[in-house]
Amino acid sequence: MQFCSMDPKFERQFVKKLEARKEKNTFRQLPKENDRIDFSSNDYLGFATDGLLEHSFLAKEKFSGATASRLISGNSKLHESVEQMIADYHHANTGLLFNSGYDANVGVLGCIAQKGDTILYDELCHASILDGLKMSLANSTPFIHNDLKDLEKNIENSKGNIFIVTEGIFSMDGDTSPLMEMVGLSKKYKAAIIIDEAHSTGILGKQGKGWVCELGLEDEILVRVHTFGKAMGCHGAIVLGSQALRDYLINYARSFIFTTALPPHSVSYIAKAYEMLRKTNRIELLKQNIIAFKASLNDHVREMILPSPSPIQSLLIKGAGKTRLIAKKIQEKGFDVKPIVSPTVALGKERIRICIHAFNSPAEVASLAESINELLEDER
Ligand SMILES: Cc1ncc(COP(=O)(O)O)c(C=O)c1O
Repeated sequence: MQFCSMDPKFERQFVKKLEARKEKNTFRQLPKENDRIDFSSNDYLGFATDGLLEHSFLAKEKFSGATASRLISGNSKLHESVEQMIADYHHANTGLLFNSGYDANVGVLGCIAQKGDTILYDELCHASILDGLKMSLANSTPFIHNDLKDLEKNIENSKGNIFIVTEGIFSMDGDTSPLMEMVGLSKKYKAAIIIDEAHSTGILGKQGKGWVCELGLEDEILVRVHTFGKAMGCHGAIVLGSQALRDYLINYARSFIFTTALPPHSVSYIAKAYEMLRKTNRIELLKQNIIAFKASLNDHVREMILPSPSPIQSLLIKGAGKTRLIAKKIQEKGFDVKPIVSPTVALGKERIRICIHAFNSPAEVASLAESINELLEDER
């Protein structure tokens, strides 16, 4: 049955664009639920799939929704106390919750710099950062991934106040940023650093406090974004920084101001996740699995894996068709890995993104590595 009486020219336009993607093997489709062993989710510590589920929020929370934005009727003692608890956990002065990491990045990047300022961002920064930059009045320029020389060259050519944007662990390559050296540059040129800790939250630093805390750089960073949809196993994000930063975002970050606040059960889940993180031994189990996975790969495959100390291990294949084909073959062996192709990554950087978890058994990790070794031997 056709409910839409709109001019079919719009449908034709959609179809035409989609056909072009299909031709290039870059058509995105929602994957079906499956029973394969999870080597693709960002649930690095397994908080999303167990642990947090024991937290029966329904019995405790009075409201199912926050009722409005924080500035109208959505603010609560719960929101504020959890914000301060998280700020304390990461050795920051204050925190402001956002509904997602996407919202946090769009909100921060959209308003932090003024007209005439410059934002320099790592070329591999996440799409949410790029979308925030589109809202900014400042000039923005990418620098070569983790390249301090290119960063410095760009700083020297910059005007106004300078903001440098990077990540703790990069979402697609899995490597860390050279933050210590970047802080050196930020001091030399009086620039400010903004860091997205989406993938380093719960993974790096003592008790998962993140990359900034691991390096002891808490006092050197203007803005830290931690997100809760990955290792923390729930949803939402927080921006950490000074009291002035928090007040500024409450006044200017549009993705904070113009949206219904996180519901109490979400905030309560976040608090529970931090309680778990304080005591968990899963970070250690995860590290062991990462080491074991890399050790089980043969030399040929190891050369194809991007250097990464983190749970994100990317097997660079190149070519959308071939990447999808090899991912399918690994999936057929019972492992849920995902092909990542353009435009999510640059053309020629197509890869299979493998996420190692604390809950993957040593046998599963070894068996995945063995399957990859075998499959890529056939491809040689
Ligand atoms: C580096 C990075 N930042 C931000 C986000 C967005 O976070 P969220 O999923 O909470 O919106 C992601 C999610 O993929 C990410 O990888």
